[in-house]
Amino acid sequence: MFDVDKIRKDFPIFKNDPGLVYFDSAATSFKPQCVIDAVNDFYTRHTANIHRGDYDNSFIVSKDYDDTRKVVSKLLHNDDPDQIVFTAGATASLNLVAYGYFLDHLKEGDVILLTLAEHASNILPWFEVAKKTKARIEYIPLNEDGTFNIDNYKECLDKYNVRAVSLPYVSNVLGYINPIKEICALAHEKGALVNADGAQAVPHIKVDVMDLDVDFLGFSAHKMLGPSGIGVLYAKKKLLEETTPMMNGGGANARFNKDGEVILKEIPVRFEAGTPNIEGVLGLKKACEYLMDLGMDNIRKHDDEIVRYLIGKLSTLDNVKIYNPRSECSIVAFNVEGIFAQDVGSYLNSLGIAVRTGNHCAKVIDNIIGTTETIRASVYLYNTKEEADKLYGAIRDVTLEKCIGAII
Ligand code: ALA
Repeated sequence: MFDVDKIRKDFPIFKNDPGLVYFDSAATSFKPQCVIDAVNDFYTRHTANIHRGDYDNSFIVSKDYDDTRKVVSKLLHNDDPDQIVFTAGATASLNLVAYGYFLDHLKEGDVILLTLAEHASNILPWFEVAKKTKARIEYIPLNEDGTFNIDNYKECLDKYNVRAVSLPYVSNVLGYINPIKEICALAHEKGALVNADGAQAVPHIKVDVMDLDVDFLGFSAHKMLGPSGIGVLYAKKKLLEETTPMMNGGGANARFNKDGEVILKEIPVRFEAGTPNIEGVLGLKKACEYLMDLGMDNIRKHDDEIVRYLIGKLSTLDNVKIYNPRSECSIVAFNVEGIFAQDVGSYLNSLGIAVRTGNHCAKVIDNIIGTTETIRASVYLYNTKEEADKLYGAIRDVTLEKCIGAII
């Protein structure tokens, strides 16, 4: 049974700050004690570099680090742990795909398909790659409400010489789930590859990379109960074999000589030059285990219940506009008529309620939803209906005067 009261006991932040209502897990999640302990254990008991020391602590930590690829694989239903590359986070993963793979595989006239709902990290690297390769970016027209339109996508695939499709699995502004499996199947028919930004998906829904047949999938640990500064790129092995590491250095090469001849190590370690974020990886391992113990389907069901409840409550308020009434995954995006999103955010903060306001790094989504700023309440496995009630009550009672009072 999914027992949210029991789950909250695993998160020390609720004990240390009992009044806090946190609806910003899409920005970063809280950490359970087991993740904190794993990081702490590395610092207090088993500090050592990996794959470089001939002593116990190095063996212990190296094994734990390597085992993490298996645990992440289990979470992603991936059958080959060598397809798991540790990166600094989702942004680093997306950049590795764009620069490491596509820079060498695109040419003039090729098309990269994106949407206007992308996070900056899934647009800006493509701008650069397009400039350098003379490939072109085209945006798949979305439906008016920001949901994916498969017919428009098919039209783009027919019309352009599409080589790369790069999309969020779940939109970080609207919480819509893109049909990645269908998107991949259609792209593959045309010989194009699909990169999915999994930052908002992997923490919340069951992701099966084999079933999706997705080519690349990147995500961050810190949004899924893990530490900051660590993330994952999943990629099919044959694509990793054709990917150029973005960093070179210690740990990633087997040998080199003074003439510049370099033999890289095997995949995936060739992509992890330098001493990696070891404690981050060990924390990520615990985070994955924690999520799997709870069950991704149970987490999704819980998130969904809170989202539906919150949307139901907020939609009774005449002065509230909800941008994603059919939100499918953990996010509620709204505004209060006549008050800037950020001012509402400051007012909520004065009541101990944390939300994110603004454009959420998706700086061209205003072309779809007609506003650059929203209030985003993002839900996770530790949120409760009581917290949703508090947010609803605050929004029901908010006025411009109260917001100004909270700011000055
Ligand atoms: N990308 C994170 C968000 O959407 C930080 O809030």
